[in-house]
Amino acid sequence: MSTAPHPLSVWARNISPSPTLAVDAKAKAMAASGVDVCSFAAGEPDFDTPEHIKEACITALKGGKTKYAPTPGIEVLRQAIVERYAAEYGLKATSAQVIVSPGGKFNCYLGVLATCSPGDEVIIPAPYWVSYPEMVKLAGATPKFVLCDDRAGFKLTPAQLSAAITPKTKLLILNSPSNPTGAVYTRAELAELVGIAVRHNLYILSDEMYEHLVYDGATPTCLATLSPEAEARTITVAGFSKTYAMTGWRIGTTLAPLPVAKAIAELQSQMSSNVTTFAQYGALAALKEKDKTGAALKTMLVAFDRRRKALHAELNRIPGVRCLLAQGAFYLFPNISSFGLSDLEFCNRLLETEHVAAVPGSAFGAEGYLRLSYATSDETIAKGVARLAKFCAALRK
Ligand SMILES: Cc1ncc(COP(=O)(O)O)c(C=O)c1O
Repeated sequence: MSTAPHPLSVWARNISPSPTLAVDAKAKAMAASGVDVCSFAAGEPDFDTPEHIKEACITALKGGKTKYAPTPGIEVLRQAIVERYAAEYGLKATSAQVIVSPGGKFNCYLGVLATCSPGDEVIIPAPYWVSYPEMVKLAGATPKFVLCDDRAGFKLTPAQLSAAITPKTKLLILNSPSNPTGAVYTRAELAELVGIAVRHNLYILSDEMYEHLVYDGATPTCLATLSPEAEARTITVAGFSKTYAMTGWRIGTTLAPLPVAKAIAELQSQMSSNVTTFAQYGALAALKEKDKTGAALKTMLVAFDRRRKALHAELNRIPGVRCLLAQGAFYLFPNISSFGLSDLEFCNRLLETEHVAAVPGSAFGAEGYLRLSYATSDETIAKGVARLAKFCAALRK
């Protein structure tokens, strides 16, 4: 007689798969079967990694950089990361505070694991990046969401933060520029939030993954530079994926106060060891060959900015759609609540009838919106938004 296997673990049963990856995969499968899909679902630049970065990786690979590397990253890369924080933000750190991990997603997860225990609460402003709640749950902690809608510019206010803090709150997650809204907090806005976090002795996970993708003269803030107290409790996550079109390389960075950095390195030593050794030499070239990297970034920024403005203008021409002109990342987050459909239903029908892929706002904790990525060609944007307009017009009949 055979016995049914035990149910899977509580971790496996409670995890929600990434909805953004799911929509993207569905759109790609439709396209592969010959359907002319306009996808706004991608969470990655539609540019290739700059040549000099690839070359440095190939040279390292051919030169035998094929063995294990130190868990927190090769020392030259960690040092280059320290130097870039000093040059860009005047932040003084040491390489012992830097951990290179397999993708910014893992950096965030390790930051949560290093600071949160079962029973702790973590404040996550919504709309949020889809992975934060799952990471918090995997640490046995409890996510506490605070909704920040488009009328508030998708930003957490000091009053909202104060009201959400309880004696159990351990960590505040902030993400500027934001995925999914593209919102960029000003330095003054962040200073107020950080002041409150410091007073309540919270850790802060500052996800600065999109720091270099800003428009209209907006400046990114390195949260740890706001005050010595902020520096002492902030885990700064950034990476190579978005800025250098290196999503497939899986390289992210953490800069944290020394005790936290040590804990993160120890967790990583048991969970993934080091980032692929020769890939780290590509990342090093991205930081060292500044002129070439800067030129490649400029080309991307010019294209993203042009598409951002075009998409924003077209969206606001559609009756019933309301969209803010976000200043960062490569997403817009239009409000489609006037159509009387759930955003999930809206996205499903949009994909089935007009072959346009968008991610529903509810995946990011904000019902009634769409996340549209403009990291796609100008042609796709023009065609896709025209189809969206047709779809919306039909809904209003
Ligand atoms: C806000 C945010 N943080 C972190 C990441 C993780 O990036 P990576 O591809 O390096 O894991 C992403 C990727 O989508 C993101 O949008």
